[in-house]
Amino acid sequence: MNFDAPSVIRTKRDGGALSDAAIDWVIAAYTDGRVADEQMSALLMAIFLRGMTGAEITRWTTAMIASGERFDFGDLGRPLVDKHSTGGVGDKITIPLVPVVLACGAAVPQAAGRGLGHTGGTLDKLEAIPGFTAELSKNRIRQQLSDIGAAIFAAGDLAPADRKIYALRDITATTESLPLIASSVMSKKLAEGARSLVLDVKVGKGAFLKTEAESRELAATMVALGNDSGVPTRALLTDMNRPLGRAVGNAVEVVESLEVLAGGGPDDVVELTLALAAEMLDAAGLDGVDPAQTLRDGTAMDRFRALVAAQGGDLSAPLPIGAHSESVPAPTGGVMGDIDAMAVAMAAWRLGAGRAAPGHPVQFGAGVQIHRRPGESVAAGDALFTLYTDTPERLAPAIAELDGGWTVGPREPVIGPLIIDRIG
Ligand code: URA
Repeated sequence: MNFDAPSVIRTKRDGGALSDAAIDWVIAAYTDGRVADEQMSALLMAIFLRGMTGAEITRWTTAMIASGERFDFGDLGRPLVDKHSTGGVGDKITIPLVPVVLACGAAVPQAAGRGLGHTGGTLDKLEAIPGFTAELSKNRIRQQLSDIGAAIFAAGDLAPADRKIYALRDITATTESLPLIASSVMSKKLAEGARSLVLDVKVGKGAFLKTEAESRELAATMVALGNDSGVPTRALLTDMNRPLGRAVGNAVEVVESLEVLAGGGPDDVVELTLALAAEMLDAAGLDGVDPAQTLRDGTAMDRFRALVAAQGGDLSAPLPIGAHSESVPAPTGGVMGDIDAMAVAMAAWRLGAGRAAPGHPVQFGAGVQIHRRPGESVAAGDALFTLYTDTPERLAPAIAELDGGWTVGPREPVIGPLIIDRIG
């Protein structure tokens, strides 16, 4: 059947469902350049506004997988398990999590992403380590999985349609769409060769989908996509109203991850790392191992060092820190109230931790350090936040983003549980 982009866009614009053949055509044609960015942008906005049926999401995901390679590392004889987050603020969890599950006996082939919208990307954070590369060939991934059990890599030849669409969504205000998030995450994850999968689906102010109902639906959609494709999948629904930990940015998040791997670090980062590790180990059939022990005895840190070294990184070199900084002082004493994850994300983005246009470099040293977390005591004049950047003119707009995103008051804020539910 012959298709053309305007007819496909018109069908979705007018609230219709796209046929399997139309989806296969538009994804293949966009991947090889027959459909232009302007046309795909219009289609993405129509999908954003009109949504997709379950059948359309399944086909869109399958077509994105078919746009590239699908890895199979089953012959390595190791339990291959991975996790993916739907995007958060201060969400550095992959960095301590991968070495923890590795130290417990699982193997992790992880196709990771760069920053999207206001959220940070694991690759942007890890590339802050001098020398670290995420551009790995399939052979190198296979070799690394065989030698040390994990690789964290740019999706490259996996789901190349998602790579193009992901970049376009970032600049066309079409990131916050359930069908587009579900298909983006699952196309990469089903193509990367993991045999089971754990998803961290964020809920709240710093998540792409703000309400619990939407996040539940996203989780259920992705769990079904995984299970129906033969990859046992489950999800944790986790709170993203406030940033995770005390660091939001690139190198600052690596520093915090190293603290966790050394047996310290903020409670919430440790809690989520261990909860996701327990799910991954269970999914991989590795019960009876205690992930917390690997943080206490240094084995997770050893695995992280081996992983970074295998990917060219030098952890003995200093991590970059922005040359310019400014702190936000407490106007009065009291207790730190809640901190709005979106305000901190936007501040970090203004400092240069994220991108304003596709392909632009990020500042590895840009970020926000949170000195007082919700519920901690504050004296008047204490530094609450310190902002770092290499470009000093970014400091004032970043501080303005924080305005209204935090309070200091007489009472402790009421904070709900970090792990809200488990689905699948
Ligand atoms: N992570 C992805 O890979 N894609 C999204 O759309 C959101 C988070």
